[in-house]
Amino acid sequence: MQNSQATTAEKRTSLHGFWSSRMAFILAVTGSAVGLGNIWKFPYIAGENGGGAFVIVYLFCVVLIGMPVMMSEILIGRRGRRNPVATMALLGQEEGGSRNWQWVGGMGVIAGILILSYYSVIAGWTLAYVFKSASGVFSGASADEIGAHFSAFVGNWKLVAFSHTLFMGLTIFVVARGVERGLEQAVRFMVPALIVLMLVLLGYSLTSGHFGEGVAFLFMPDFSKLTWDSVLIALGHAFFTLSIGMGAIMAYGAYLPEDTSINGTSVAVVTADTVIAILAALVIFPIVFEFGLNPADGPGLVFDTLPVAFGQMTGGAFFSTIFFVLLAFAAWTSAIGLMEPAVAWYVENFHRTRAEAAIVIGVLIWLLGIGSVLSFNVLSDFTFYRGTIFDNVDYLTSNIMLPLGGVFITVFAGWVMCRNSTAEELGGTGTAYMLWRILARFVAPVGIMFVFLKAVGLLDWLM
Ligand code: TRP
Repeated sequence: MQNSQATTAEKRTSLHGFWSSRMAFILAVTGSAVGLGNIWKFPYIAGENGGGAFVIVYLFCVVLIGMPVMMSEILIGRRGRRNPVATMALLGQEEGGSRNWQWVGGMGVIAGILILSYYSVIAGWTLAYVFKSASGVFSGASADEIGAHFSAFVGNWKLVAFSHTLFMGLTIFVVARGVERGLEQAVRFMVPALIVLMLVLLGYSLTSGHFGEGVAFLFMPDFSKLTWDSVLIALGHAFFTLSIGMGAIMAYGAYLPEDTSINGTSVAVVTADTVIAILAALVIFPIVFEFGLNPADGPGLVFDTLPVAFGQMTGGAFFSTIFFVLLAFAAWTSAIGLMEPAVAWYVENFHRTRAEAAIVIGVLIWLLGIGSVLSFNVLSDFTFYRGTIFDNVDYLTSNIMLPLGGVFITVFAGWVMCRNSTAEELGGTGTAYMLWRILARFVAPVGIMFVFLKAVGLLDWLM
């Protein structure tokens, strides 16, 4: 714990301790960003939305919108040094004369709870796949057998509920231990190890003979296939995968020492996150084409493809086990971040211990998650609006709540906060600052609102 942070008199000190180093913060933010979003979600939504054009829109969203939102969140968090609700209230008061900005933090707390409710279910699948891999069931299995295996697994609500419970238990455990001992240690080895294993898998895909097809699917844009709905999904995913729009990065920023560069950190995290997502897709799509699978397979895509590749390799059971362990770890370090806004809020608001907060909020999330557990079996036919309960919670959070949070966050940092305050946090008014300011004031909020209105058809109705 570093306590020599107060450089100026008005600087607040963090209530939950500090990251022990700049590297620890980068690792924690990367750990929250890199998760199921990169390896499970990105490939399947890219598949469902036709590949190339969708991927390009996603990359634009990451750079032009994700980047400035992330920087805004970190700077707000570091300046407020409280949980997202209190930080927005405090800075709202200080910078704009209104505590109502706290509702932005409140929406983030709720978004985190809702996201984790289904995230934990999918993370539970990865835990189950650790044991399945180790048992050798995938060795030499055909794509059909592996697909049937997945359907049978998610069709069994008791197994899915059990693995969801196990994963939430693990998450509550780490969150209860607190910033230093819990969060930091969990992320230190996971990201590098995950990259190494993705490269091993890439070796398989490169030699499979269908690599070119995979690359073409991912990078050859056919904009005629792109709808405004898929643009909104790409935008929503940029938020989801970078963990932004809900105050999680704000909460992490609250523990960040003053002398750490926000610009540099953001670039590092965004790059790592994007590289891992692209790597995952480059591994998965060649397998999809090699075995004649459907790119629009949906949430089961990773579980239907990677075990097939592992099943063909020598030592596949071993690599497969390690891979799902790492994926579970990646999900774990993200789950911690998803809970952080709610937990920090609970601790500060009710003056309770982190352990109590982690248990109360964790149990609530677990309960909500039952809706998603049942979406793949008992209630799979119970559909409305976007599909099952799982589909709706995902759509509402990723594509509505997070981008909306992004609008408020960038409007707050770009328009409400004094130029001096933001310049101080971002290290002066050089080119990087000016670039951030243009993106945060205009490009991000206007871009998000435009995509929103287009996707719901409101813009066309108005004009
Ligand atoms: N970024 C995570 C992933 O890609 C998911 C996520 C969304 C998240 N919002 C978050 C993680 C907030 C931590 C904090 O899997």
